[in-house]
Amino acid sequence: MTAQGRDPQPASARVPLPIVVLISGRGSNMRAIAERARDGRLPVEVRAVISDKPQAPGLTIAQSFGITTHTLAPSAYVDRAAYDRALAELVASYEPALVVLAGFMRILSAEFVERFAGRIMNIHPSLLPKYRGLHTHQRVLEAGDREHGASVHFVTQELDGGPVIIQALIDVKPNDTVDSLSARVQRQEHIIYPQAIEWFAQGRLAMEGERVYLDGKPLARPVVIDAREH
Ligand code: GAR
Repeated sequence: MTAQGRDPQPASARVPLPIVVLISGRGSNMRAIAERARDGRLPVEVRAVISDKPQAPGLTIAQSFGITTHTLAPSAYVDRAAYDRALAELVASYEPALVVLAGFMRILSAEFVERFAGRIMNIHPSLLPKYRGLHTHQRVLEAGDREHGASVHFVTQELDGGPVIIQALIDVKPNDTVDSLSARVQRQEHIIYPQAIEWFAQGRLAMEGERVYLDGKPLARPVVIDAREH
């Protein structure tokens, strides 16, 4: 730890970039990342996958890739602060240059976020800043929105509020359901998350303060992948 209380920040252009992935469930985004890493399409080394849920199907997927897995169950800790301290220690033990939240359904403490500041990414199933929080597909349908999507963002203290790096845009069809929307959003998630991670691994992407830089220039607005079916 440095005097500021942070771990030393490894340069992001280390190849392959060591990452740790946090999950709570299915793990399809983690799988998209692990597959590309295995095939040499994404210059990262997934050092560990950590779940807060012992039954998370993503754990088995990670093991099938030969990735080390851990379950850290919140019930084993007295409170959120103790849990997050243990989680931060476990994550830090793998010396990741990037912490990847892939369907990790817990709110991280300010201490955790500060410790890995500028080195935590999240994927969220909406066009942020719209629909932070849960049940995004349902809320999109209820609002009658014509467009929906997914966002990859750097994590800050504000829940689902960190600066957005890249978004995928899809259209909402008249007969869409939560399941059909979720499936199409997920297909796009599996494209934009590896893309953002690749930029970071290449040293092209960084967050300083709360500003995102891509190729040395401030990113005024997120990169948008238009996946609407015109
Ligand atoms: C993804 O759709 C992700 O956007 C969402 O959880 C799903 C995890 O799927 N994350 C959030 O809602 C975070 N607020 P996966 O386990 O198959 O990757």
